[in-house]
Amino acid sequence: MSANKESWGSRVGLILAMAGNAVGLGNFLRFPVQAVQNGGGAFIIPYLVCFLVMGIPLLWIEWSMGRFGGKFGHHSTPFIVDTMGRNRLWKYIGVFGIWTNIAVAAYYCYLESWTLSYVFHSLAGTFSGMDQDGVAAFFIEYVSLGESTFGIPYEPIVFFLICLLLNTWILSQGLAKGIERVAKIGMPMLILFGIFLAYKGFTITAGENGAINDSTVGLNFLWTPQYDKLWSPSVWLAAAGQIFFTLSVGMGTVHCYASYVRSKDDIALNAMSAGWMNEFVEVVLGGAILIPISIGYLGIDRVTELVQSGGLGLGFRTLPYLFYQWGDVLGAISGMMWFGLLFFAGITSSLAMGTPWIGFLQDEFNWKRKPAAWSFGLIVLILGMPTVLFFNYGVFDEYDYWAGTVSLVVFALLESILFAWVFGINKGWREIISGSDIKVPGIYKFIIKFITPLLLLWVFLGSLFTPKGGDWGKAIAGDWVLDDSSIIKKIANSDLKAKIAAATDPATVNQLQDTLMFVNGSRILLVVVWLSIALLVYIAYKKRVREGRI
Ligand code: ALA
Repeated sequence: MSANKESWGSRVGLILAMAGNAVGLGNFLRFPVQAVQNGGGAFIIPYLVCFLVMGIPLLWIEWSMGRFGGKFGHHSTPFIVDTMGRNRLWKYIGVFGIWTNIAVAAYYCYLESWTLSYVFHSLAGTFSGMDQDGVAAFFIEYVSLGESTFGIPYEPIVFFLICLLLNTWILSQGLAKGIERVAKIGMPMLILFGIFLAYKGFTITAGENGAINDSTVGLNFLWTPQYDKLWSPSVWLAAAGQIFFTLSVGMGTVHCYASYVRSKDDIALNAMSAGWMNEFVEVVLGGAILIPISIGYLGIDRVTELVQSGGLGLGFRTLPYLFYQWGDVLGAISGMMWFGLLFFAGITSSLAMGTPWIGFLQDEFNWKRKPAAWSFGLIVLILGMPTVLFFNYGVFDEYDYWAGTVSLVVFALLESILFAWVFGINKGWREIISGSDIKVPGIYKFIIKFITPLLLLWVFLGSLFTPKGGDWGKAIAGDWVLDDSSIIKKIANSDLKAKIAAATDPATVNQLQDTLMFVNGSRILLVVVWLSIALLVYIAYKKRVREGRI
């Protein structure tokens, strides 16, 4: 049995930590961009449906798997799934629940460090007096490791290190004294800042402070449903992807946090509280800031154009300039609030990413929390540095694609099969409702058994074999040409190779060839990390056998 006897300090703390795990940069940066890329109003219905039939079931599955594993002293997915499955291979599937977190943390902490740096620059007045091109150029210079405005050498690296040190130190303080405390401060602050900025987003009036549109233009763009687009599987795939990312399901963090819940405690209501809090922050606050403000000042076409040319950076490339339309003081305060809320959102998620690895070392190799936390920091530093140094060569995006997108779907699909079909839906259902403070709707037993795994299978196959231009009608009629965005074409680097073949300028060819090299290099790195964790799981398994624990 594990010597790891930590537990949550209070129920509120647990819910805030879980909500903090879910509420992240995805809520404020990824969600609006996904919505714009998928036609605004076309996105919302698939998104909400995916939340109901995939998000909620996965939350219940993962919370109950975590609490179940916790009874046996397991705090990370390899041995949680091992206890539930009947085949010794399951523990290697569980490797995803540690690997994904380490790989996502590697690029996520870098993104988080931008927010820290932008808080600093907002307070220092760096963006005051800059025009929009100036703000956009600042961002490009920043991620290209260009000259720092303040003469700090290698500023992005410095902020990345600060961010990582902060994460590691908080993790080393433990569950209740570290993570829970940060969630109790960070979540209310984030909501407060979010409400203020959403209020500003809701009240933009054309002609005032340089705005060209009322806030209604942006809000209508997002909220007017486009029923004809409901038949586009690509929009559904994007909506499903966002649900995974935002709820942090398919990652292993929910299992880990839930494994510290006492065996008699409720999970059904807790899961809903954290899940719906995330949706409030994402749909209400996340949907009311970036899009309405950007569209208010720049119009739908320009915002769509900006999103197509590099989505995640939108909030960095435009908002610092737009905030200054409200005057110097409000511009600086709004910048501090926006990047401050992003920082709180980010850190409460990245802390969650550290816990499965720490739990694994504590359970299997009797490590103390502090060295385990510092080892996480070190691994993330090593794996994260390529995303900092070679950001412009696609390393960041490569991590995001494999760890932050594909891996979530793969693991969620396999765990839903494990839960409903191997462990068994009857036993699984008993786990969900045991100790529950709400009546879980019976229909979810059916949904968890059939609908969720089928939908996940469809999302996985749809991503694997996405047809060209998302034209599923043509594909089903027999003319199935794979799109460059399909997983298969991604593995073959088809898009990049086609660009190299089409390029004529030698400098562009060189840049693209370097990108190809870095993309392949990042994949090798990610595979090496996965295999190393699998080896550790194997060693841990042998140790268990030797000690008679299996
Ligand atoms: N759920 C986290 C986010 O939305 C990872 O950023």
